[in-house]
Amino acid sequence: MSKYIIVSNRLPVKIDKLNNQWKFSPTSGGLATGLKTVHENGKTLWIGWAGISAEEIEEEDYRTLSKELNQQNYKPISLSENEIDDFYLGLSNKCIWPLFHYFKQYVEFDEAQWESYVEVNQKFADAILEEIEAGDKVWIHDYQLLLVPEMVKSVRKDVTIGFFLHIPFPSFEIFRIFPKRDELLNGMLGADLIGFHTYDYQRHFISSVKRHLHLQVNYNIVKQAEREITVDTFPMGIDFEKFENTAMKHQAVKQEDFSTFRTELERHKASSDGKIILSIDRLDYSKGVINRIKSFEYFLEQYPQYQEKVRLVMVSVPSRTNVSHYKKLKRDTDEIIGRVNGKFATVNWTPIWYYYRSFDFDDLIDFYCLSDIAMVTPLRDGMNLVAKEYLATRVDNKGVLILSELAGASKELHQSLTVNPFDIKGLSESIYEAINMPEDEQLERNIELRERIRRYNVTFWSDNFLERLSAIAIDSQQHKSVRITEDIINGIAKDYKATHKRLLLLDYDGTLVKFHKMRNKALPNKHVLNTINQLSEDDSNDLVIISGRPMSFLEKVFTNKAITLVAEHGHFIRHAQTDEWIDKHPTNNDWMTHILPVLQQFTDNTPGTLIEHKKNSLVWHYRKTDPELGVNKAEELKTVLSSMISNEISIMEGNKIIEVIPAGINKGIAAFDLFSSQEYDFVFVAGDDVTDEDMFEKLPEEVISIKIGHKQTAAKYTVGSSDKLIDILNNFTK
Ligand code: UDP
Ligand code: G6P
Repeated sequence: MSKYIIVSNRLPVKIDKLNNQWKFSPTSGGLATGLKTVHENGKTLWIGWAGISAEEIEEEDYRTLSKELNQQNYKPISLSENEIDDFYLGLSNKCIWPLFHYFKQYVEFDEAQWESYVEVNQKFADAILEEIEAGDKVWIHDYQLLLVPEMVKSVRKDVTIGFFLHIPFPSFEIFRIFPKRDELLNGMLGADLIGFHTYDYQRHFISSVKRHLHLQVNYNIVKQAEREITVDTFPMGIDFEKFENTAMKHQAVKQEDFSTFRTELERHKASSDGKIILSIDRLDYSKGVINRIKSFEYFLEQYPQYQEKVRLVMVSVPSRTNVSHYKKLKRDTDEIIGRVNGKFATVNWTPIWYYYRSFDFDDLIDFYCLSDIAMVTPLRDGMNLVAKEYLATRVDNKGVLILSELAGASKELHQSLTVNPFDIKGLSESIYEAINMPEDEQLERNIELRERIRRYNVTFWSDNFLERLSAIAIDSQQHKSVRITEDIINGIAKDYKATHKRLLLLDYDGTLVKFHKMRNKALPNKHVLNTINQLSEDDSNDLVIISGRPMSFLEKVFTNKAITLVAEHGHFIRHAQTDEWIDKHPTNNDWMTHILPVLQQFTDNTPGTLIEHKKNSLVWHYRKTDPELGVNKAEELKTVLSSMISNEISIMEGNKIIEVIPAGINKGIAAFDLFSSQEYDFVFVAGDDVTDEDMFEKLPEEVISIKIGHKQTAAKYTVGSSDKLIDILNNFTK
C-alpha cells in the first residue's frame, strides 16, 4: 500500500537526557503540533531531525533510539554539530527566518552556511529517495528544506511532491535581498503543489517567481518548460476536538483532584480577584513580546484602577538559544519584566508572571482555561496556532482574543480584537476594551470564531492539501504526451521516406525561430532556411508555414515560392507557386475602431507594451514590460474586451500577447482545410503555442504532431527545443 512521506527539519519528538538517561520529549512549535495529528491518523512515514547532534550521543545509543523511532514510523536524520551551526542555526535561522519575517536588520548571509544548507537539504532528499516506493507521495515542510522538492524531483520525476511553507513568504522587495533567491524559488518549484497559510503569501511567492524566474503564471499555475506547478492557500487548523474535550474534562475536575500546577494557578487567580491575560509563544523576536509588555505597562499607567486586579501570565518557550538575537531577546525580556514588576508590584500582587520553559499539554490547557484574555500579538507570524488553541478551549464561549493583524490567523479570525502590534497605545487600549467587553459580545464573537476553527481543523487542512496532491497526480497521468526519443525519431523518418504525398505544417515563432525582444529580428538562421527550402523543393512535399504573423512579414522571410504561407492564424493563405493572398474569411473590420482606443489606453498605461495592427486583427504585445504588470494588465484587458465584443470577434491569448480577431477561423481550421484538400499519406505538424493546440486537436489521430516544450498539450510528442525539431526535419532530407 502506498504511503505519504512527511518531511520536516524537526520530528515532533526530540532526544533529551534526563538524570543521565536518554528519553524522548515533544518539540514545540506549530508545525510539530499540526502534523502530529496527521501522522497519528494516517499511513505516513515522517523524516526529520531528532534534535540532538551526532557528537552528543554514542553511536550505539543513537542506533537503539532510532529503532524505537522507526517503530513509530519516524526516520531520524542525524546532524553533526557543524551542520546544526551552519544549516540550522545559521542559514535557516539567522538568514531565512528573519528575512521572511521582515527583520531585514537581523539577516546574516554567509556563503559557508549556504553550502551547508545545500548539503543538508541534499541529505534529506537522499533519505526521501531511499524510502520512496511505487505510488508514494511526498509532503515536504517549511523554510529549512526549500531546496528539497527540486532535489527529489530531479531524480524521481514520477513522484508527486507537495510543499508547505509554515512561515510568511515575504513581498518581492524583501525576498529579492536574498543572494540565492533563484535557487530557493527553483527548489520550491520542484514540488507539484505549493501551499501557504494565506493568500498574501501566495501572491508574494507568485510575484517573485514571475519577476526573478520570468516564468509564465496563469492564475495560480506556474508554467515551467516541462511541468506545471499549482500554488494555493491552505490555512492550517488545529485539532479542535482534542482541545475542546480536554478543556471540558479539566472543568469537570474537582478541586481536590487538581494537578499541583493547576492548584497554584487557581490560587493566584483567586488572590488577585481580577482578570488574567495570557501570552504564550516561543521566545522569538517575531512574536512581539517586548511590545506586548510595553503595552501592558502603558495600560497600568493609563488605568491605575486595574493595578492589583489584572495580571499578565507569560509563557515563553526557550527557542534557538544559540542564536545571538534570541539571546539578546532573552536579556531584554528579563530586563523589561523586572522593570515593570519592580515599578508596580505590591505585597499582594506582581503584575507579570513569567515562565521561561515549555509545558506539557495538560498544563497548557490549564493556562488557556484560566485566562480571561489571550494576547497574541506577533510582529509577523505565518499562522499562529496559539490563537486558535485558546479559542478551542472557550467551551462556554467566554473570553477575549486580542490578535495581531500581522499573524496569518487574522485573515480568518475576523471577530477577534485585531490590533497593530507596533502601536503600543492601541495595544493598551485593546486590553482595556477586552477587560470591559460585555459578556454577550464575547459570546457573539466567540460562537462565530469557534465555528470556523471547529470546521477548518487540522484534519480539514491536511485532507484538503493531500486530496489536491492526489488529484494532481492523477491529472499528470492522464495528460501524457510522449517525450520524443531517438527511436521515435527514426521511426518517423522511416515513414517519411516510405511515403509520397506529404503535408508538413510548421508554425513560425517558437518553432522555427526563438523568441526575440525585437519581433522583427526573430529570423531563421541559414541552417533552418536551408532545411525548409530543401524540404519544400521535394515534389512529394507540400510545406506550409502557418503563423500568426502578417502576410508582409512571412513573404519577406520566405522568398522561396515552393512554400505555402498561412498568415494571421489562418485568415490569409498564399499557395505555393502563386503570388496572390486569399482572404479565407472576408470580414468587415469596423470593430477595430472601437477596440483600438482601448488597446491604446492599455499601452499608454503599461510601459513596454505595443500594438500590432494586422489586416484582420489587432494584437497587444506585453513581452517587454515588467512581467507581473504585464500579466495583470493582460487579465484586466481581457475583462474589458470581453464586455465589448460580439460573437463574431474573439479574444485569443498567445505567448505574451492578446489578440482580437474575427471568430470563425483559426490555425486548426486552416490546417484541416489543407489536410482535406488532398490525399496525403504522411502529415506532420509542429508548433509551440496555445494557438497551435487548435491544429493538434483538429487534425486526426494518425497525424504526427509535435509540441516544442514539454508543457501539457494535445500533440502526440514533445521535444525540448526548436533546435531539436530542426534536427528531426533535417533527418528527412538525408
Ligand atoms: N506549545 C507547546 N508547549 C509549550 C507552549 C506552546 O507545545 O510550552 C505549542 C502550542 O500549543 C502551539 C505551538 O507550540 O501548538 C506554537 O505554535 P504557533 O503556531 O503559535 O507558533 P510557532 O512556535 O510555530 O511559531
Ligand atoms: C516554527 C517553524 C517550524 C519550527 C518551529 C520551532 O513553527 O515554522 O519549522 O520547527 O517554529 O522552531 P525550532 O527551530 O525549534 O525547530
